[in-house]
Amino acid sequence: MKVEFAPLNVPLRRRLQTAATLQWVFSFLALAQCCLAAFVLLALSDWWTVALLYAGWLWLDWDTPTCGGRRSQWVRSWSIWDYFRDYFPLTLIKSVDLEPKKNYIFGFHPHGLVSSCKASLSHLISRPAGGNIAVIAVGGAPEALDARPGALTLQVRNRKGFIKLALKHGAQLVPVFSFGENELFDQMENPTGSPLRKLQNRLQSIMGVAMPLFHARGVFQYSFGLMPYRKPIHTVVGKPISVVQTLSPSCEDIDCLHELYMQNLTELFEQHKHNYGLDEQQHLTFI
Ligand SMILES: *[C@@H]1O[C@H](CO)[C@@H](O)[C@H](O)[C@H]1NC(C)=O
Repeated sequence: MKVEFAPLNVPLRRRLQTAATLQWVFSFLALAQCCLAAFVLLALSDWWTVALLYAGWLWLDWDTPTCGGRRSQWVRSWSIWDYFRDYFPLTLIKSVDLEPKKNYIFGFHPHGLVSSCKASLSHLISRPAGGNIAVIAVGGAPEALDARPGALTLQVRNRKGFIKLALKHGAQLVPVFSFGENELFDQMENPTGSPLRKLQNRLQSIMGVAMPLFHARGVFQYSFGLMPYRKPIHTVVGKPISVVQTLSPSCEDIDCLHELYMQNLTELFEQHKHNYGLDEQQHLTFI
């Protein structure tokens, strides 16, 4: 394999972008494990009281993540996020302005490598004052196993939980398609039926998380590593489907809204695909 190194004269701005993205990759893959290790080491050391205090705080704080978290305007204002956005770069395209008085569920496609948690959804979208958006990666972990450049297969057919949730809370349902998301990483060949895919499916049923073997580039060279490629991502937010609150939705209610959602998602994709380098023959496949 021929390794292609990054040039030495990379401008500072681009170096900062790479550093911001490296921070994200580290946080995503290893931060939790590092914190856990630090906690165990602390608990076994002379400083075990600190670990005990932390455990007490953990207990008191247990529900915060599912109740909307602890949003910090200060952390949100860090310029690291701007550098992260500009690395790819990321662009958000709005079809319409959203009304701040309503709650929304964004159905996000495709599922690249960022995971989501469903527990906090209900809490967010049941706030009567509105103005909340819950984003759910509908395809879930299995879709990540098929995420690779060119993939347009979405796991939507059997995913109805978010539809039911939208009906129960009367939250507006918004299809979102991210063009370029699957171009960020390559993934080792794992077609359905291959030994690797079988192993991944086994691991997923045991541990509940998908384990895609992804690779892209490194910090100082472009041939391998866990840094995503610099490729533009355009996230298009569709028009909200208005949903009438139905406290106990029937199967027909759910199927009907699910069908409409898939139609609107297809429409969104078809309307925008030409702008992002896809051609007429490329369509979404729902499985
Ligand atoms: C969703 O799709 C239906 C059928 O194609 C269409 O009538 C409707 O206007 C669409 N709704 C939105 C919000 O795009």
